[in-house]
Amino acid sequence: MKNASQIDDWNGATGARWVDNQERLDRILAPYGDAALDAAAARAGEAVLDIGCGAGGTTLALAESVQPGGRVVGIDISEPLIVRARERAAGVALPIDFRLEDASRAPLPAAAFDLLFSRFGVMFFDAPSAAFRHMRTALKPGGRLAFICWRSAAENDWAKLPIAALRGIVPIPDSDPNTPGPYAFGDRARLEGILAEAGFTDIAIQPFDAPLIYGVGASREAALEDALDYMTQIGPVPRLLADKPADMREKAMAAVRTALESRLGDEGVVIDGAAWVVTGRNP
Ligand SMILES: C[S@@+](CC[C@H](N)C(=O)[O-])C[C@H]1O[C@@H](n2cnc3c(N)ncnc32)[C@H](O)[C@@H]1O
Repeated sequence: MKNASQIDDWNGATGARWVDNQERLDRILAPYGDAALDAAAARAGEAVLDIGCGAGGTTLALAESVQPGGRVVGIDISEPLIVRARERAAGVALPIDFRLEDASRAPLPAAAFDLLFSRFGVMFFDAPSAAFRHMRTALKPGGRLAFICWRSAAENDWAKLPIAALRGIVPIPDSDPNTPGPYAFGDRARLEGILAEAGFTDIAIQPFDAPLIYGVGASREAALEDALDYMTQIGPVPRLLADKPADMREKAMAAVRTALESRLGDEGVVIDGAAWVVTGRNP
C-alpha cells in the first residue's frame, strides 16, 4: 500500500511523540507556520484544505483568518494527532472539519477549495507528483497552493547537529535524500519538477531561515535539559536510538548534550533551521 510506512510511523511512536510535544512543537515551529500563513494570505469566505494538519495548530489559525463565511478541512493520516486536533477544535466555534485520511488518495470534492495549505505535512508521499495532482483536483480554477517544507538535512542544524554528534557512537544509515520524510523536498529543482508535473503553475520557491528555540527554562541548565528532552523525542535522534542498548544510548545522549551546549545562549538553546516557502496556482 502507498505511504504504508508513513501511516505506520505517524500512528505509532512518532505520532505519539508529536501528540506529547504538541504545545512545544507549536511554539518552536511558529515562525515557520507564520511564514507559510503569510504566503497563503487566506481571506474571509475562503475554503481551505490543511494537508498533514497534525494536531491542528495551523487549521485553527486558518479557520480564524477565513471568517466570516469561510471553512477549513484538516486532513491527516495520524489518528492520535487527529484526535488531538478535534479536542482542540471542540472548544472553539469555528467551521473546521478534521478527516483521518491519506491526502494523496482520499476522495476529495472537486474544485471545492480556494487554498491548499501545509506546514511541513506534504513531504511524506511515496509518489509526490501523483499526490499533488490528486490534491490539485480539489482546488477551484485559479486556486492557490502554499506550504512550507524543510530544505536538505545538510542545511538544517537541527538535523545536522545531532547526526554529527552521534556519528561513531551509533550506526548512521546512508539514506537517499529524496526518500519520503522531512527533507524530501530539499532539492529545489526536484520540488519544482514535482509541482509542475502535478499541473501547478506560477510556482515560486523562496528560502526561509529562522532560529528554532529548542530549549527554554528558568536557568541555562534547565534550558539545556529542555532541549535535550525535546531532541530525544522529535527529529532524527529517536529513530537513530530506537532499539539501541542502554550503554550506547547513554554515550549518545552525552554526545547530544555536548552538541546542544554549543548552541546555549541567553535565549536558551537556539538551533538554525532552513525551509522553503512554496506557492503555486491551479490553472
Ligand atoms: C511534520 S508533521 C506536521 C504536522 C502539522 N502540520 C504541524 O505543523 O504541526 C507531518 C504530518 O503529515 C502527516 N502526513 C504524512 N503523510 C500524510 C498523508 N499521506 N496524508 C495526510 N497526512 C499525512 C503526518 O501524519 C503528520 O501529522
